[in-house]
Order: sequence, then structure tokens, then C-alpha cells
Amino acid sequence: MKHLLSIEALTAGEITDIVELGAKLRKNRNATPQILNGQCWALIFNKSSTRTRVSFEVGIRELGGSVMFLSGADTQLGRGEPVKDTARVLGRMVHGAVIRTYAQADVEDFAKYSSLPTINALTDEEHPCQILADLQVMYERLGGWAGKRVCFLGDGDCNVARSWMWAAERLGFELVIGAPKQFQPPQSFMENFKSGMVKLEDDPVKAVSGVDVVYTDVWVSMGKEEESAHRLKILQPYQINSALMKHAAKDAIVMHCLPAYREKEITDEVLEQHADVIFHEAENRLHVQKAVICWMLRK
Ligand code: CP
Ligand code: NVA
Repeated sequence: MKHLLSIEALTAGEITDIVELGAKLRKNRNATPQILNGQCWALIFNKSSTRTRVSFEVGIRELGGSVMFLSGADTQLGRGEPVKDTARVLGRMVHGAVIRTYAQADVEDFAKYSSLPTINALTDEEHPCQILADLQVMYERLGGWAGKRVCFLGDGDCNVARSWMWAAERLGFELVIGAPKQFQPPQSFMENFKSGMVKLEDDPVKAVSGVDVVYTDVWVSMGKEEESAHRLKILQPYQINSALMKHAAKDAIVMHCLPAYREKEITDEVLEQHADVIFHEAENRLHVQKAVICWMLRK
């Protein structure tokens, strides 16, 4: 049985297959295979969501299935029932699960105890669905990632940054994490990256210098709200604005996983200039997640 628990767990071939299928499904939305006929999938969310929830609800229906949205707080999970017990109950009733939560171990345990195909819809460690959608944008707009240089600016140790690092390592493109030292991943995590393609840079100008893709994410991830004031202050020099963009490649694209906080991690001016790409990323969540489910269920 296949799961999508992280980018770390995927091979280059698997990532490429999923992205290519996502691009095919985007071209012909009406020809979606009805592989979830008769199935009901559970969406278990312990954190807020707009894109992920809507794209999975629509995508699972387009694949012929039905969905059940469960806010963690409204289930017995919210009153302390262990994940492994919830997993064994749902495993006897539904056909697949999509989970957004805090600890990566909870998604891994759910997959193990439920025996259901399980998708990580964001944890504190990874956001694999987002990076697959972003890679599909690179495939559709830049002809792929080979030879491309990507810069992730901001909180370089967040879930989205970590998934980007695994993508660069697996696929072999250059990724610069532009972040102050205290928001760079620890050495113990960096030891995973042996290819030399993942680099750390604390000077924002050097980080974006000549890159093809300038990427950012919120400075205050869900669960980090208590650190807001500190983060907004320290990360200010890493804002994507028109002055910083002058150092990127001339035709560089700007990407943002959204939601965006204007005049924080990105100015309104730059976001609106690059809105076509940024909302293409959001749209691709639908297509690539349908591709993920097809890939997981393929015999
Ligand atoms: N990018 C993303 O995952 O958005 P949501 O939090 O709205 O799902
Ligand atoms: N890093 C962000 C991503 C939101 C889609 C968070 O975890 O809140």
C-alpha cells in the first residue's frame, strides 16, 4: 500500500510521475478516472485550511468518491483519544485518509494503524502536497526543474522549506535557503543533504542572486503564533519586494504557497505582479492531489 507522508519518502521517478500525471489531469479535467467509485475518504484537520481542504474535497469527488470532513477538535481526538485508536476505528469504515496536524509521527502512526492509504496534508515537518503542486508549476511554466535555481526566503526551517529541501535533493536542482541563522535548519537536519544542491545563505541579496524562482511562505506558521513579534522583526530583511527582486534572474518567477501576508513576507506590489503564477500554484493543488491518489491506488 502506498501513502504520501513526505517528499523525503519519494524517489525522483515517483515525483516526476505524479507531476506529469497532475499536468495531464489539468489539461483534461473532465476525463478524470472514476477510481474512487463507492469510496468514502476522511479528511482529518487539526489546523485551519482553505486550499488543502477545498482541493481534496473537490478532487476526491471528481475521482468518483465522497468525503467526510472531520475537524480534529470535534472528534474524540480533541478529548485525547490516541491517534492509533482513531486510526483503527476509521480503518474499518472509510477507504482513505487525508490528515493535517502538528506531529509528523501522528500521520505516520495513522497510516500504520489504520491500514488506509494516507496523505499528509501538512505537518510541522513537511507539506508534500504543496511542493508537488509547485513542482507542477515549474514543469508547466519553466519546462521542468533541471538546471533551475530556486531560492526559498524566510523561515528556512518550516514545513514548506523542509519539503523543498527534500525535493531539491531527490530531483537534483539547486535550492538556496535564504534565512537568518536562527531560522535555518539545524546541522543535524542538514546532514541529510549530501548532493551539495541544498545551500544555506543568510544574506538575502546573495540568496536571490540570479535565481529562476523566488519562493516564500508565511513567517508565522500555524502553531508558532506566540513567536509572532520576534519572527516579524528578524525576518523583515527577507521580504520579497521590488528592490530584492532586482537581484534575481531577469525573468524570475515568484511563488507563494499562500495564505500571504502583504507587506510582511511579500509586498502587495510583487504579489500582484506575480499573481498569475501564485494562483496557478493554488489551482495545481487540485490536479496534483488527484494525481497523488491515482498513483497511490494504481495496482
Ligand atoms: N497552501 C496551503 O496549504 O493552504 P491552506 O492552509 O489554505 O490549505
Ligand atoms: N508554513 C505554513 C504553511 C501554510 C500553508 C504553516 O505551517 O502555517
